[in-house]
Amino acid sequence: MNIFITGASSGIGKALAYEYAKRYANTQSTIGLVARHSEYLQKLATELQDQYKITCAIYQLDVRDSSALSGASQDFITRFGAPNIVIANAGVSRGTLTELKEDITAFQAIFDINVMGMMHTFQPFITTMKLSAAKGEAAQLVGVASVAGIRGIPGSGAYSASKAAVISYCESLRTEMQHYNIAVSTIVPGYIRTPMTDLNQYKMPFLMDTDKFAQKFANAVKAKARFKIIPWQMGWVARFMRFIPPFLWDFAMKKAPHKKRLDWDWL
Ligand SMILES: NC(=O)c1ccc[n+]([C@@H]2O[C@H](COP(=O)([O-])OP(=O)(O)OC[C@H]3O[C@@H](n4cnc5c(N)ncnc54)[C@H](OP(=O)(O)O)[C@@H]3O)[C@@H](O)[C@H]2O)c1
Repeated sequence: MNIFITGASSGIGKALAYEYAKRYANTQSTIGLVARHSEYLQKLATELQDQYKITCAIYQLDVRDSSALSGASQDFITRFGAPNIVIANAGVSRGTLTELKEDITAFQAIFDINVMGMMHTFQPFITTMKLSAAKGEAAQLVGVASVAGIRGIPGSGAYSASKAAVISYCESLRTEMQHYNIAVSTIVPGYIRTPMTDLNQYKMPFLMDTDKFAQKFANAVKAKARFKIIPWQMGWVARFMRFIPPFLWDFAMKKAPHKKRLDWDWL
């Protein structure tokens, strides 16, 4: 099994790397680990190799850089063959306000990382995966969205819009890839305990730990789920969110807490 995961240095991506390493321990499997912080990737790769005897390949890059991802995919394919699962998980979230000129840069970065970064991740693998899928090998693209992409959340315009774009983009891709036997799954996390949600100062319903989330994520991928909200309780919340009329949504959001705005040195 060959698996390629972006955003593997922390939170959900790191937990997924552990989960897949556990599932394919002591086999001829490889996990490609992508992020900007190579020191975290190196530490993770050493742990996975020692504990689970699995091969890891590290790619230190920014998902905004399409040529870097193209180079990484070429290297991965040359060394290990076509990936069976590509997980575009890298993402950022910060509070943003349209009325603030300084937030234009933040909007751009959030879109570039969360949306374009996903396209940059999938694109260079597709030709090779079409060939491997035609030979009957498993081929699956997995995009990580968010419940925040179901409706517009106040104070989170950039993040909500980027994840709404991810949901639609993955659906388009799924309908395109069905002709080639490449499965496309959209995984929609609710609140998962990671450095991203550690910043939130409000109560997060149905907050789930990363290892439990990673198990459910990998199960959904194995079942080739087209669209899966995890945890299931958030699935019901999302269904309700989707169907309430705009005036009721505005009322419900009147007192909703806003995501924290921070300095943009993280860009
Ligand atoms: N946690 C939740 O409750 C939750 C809910 C809904 C959706 N999600 C989504 O789940 C995904 C993972 O989030 P998380 O909670 O695990 O957050 P996290 O702990 O902050 O991890 C984010 C990961 O993305 C990587 N990343 C960020 N910008 C990148 C860039 N420009 N290029 C390459 N890698 C980049 C980070 O690595 P480097 O900084 O080393 O590059 C890190 O590995 C995101 O797409 C997020 O939107 C999370």
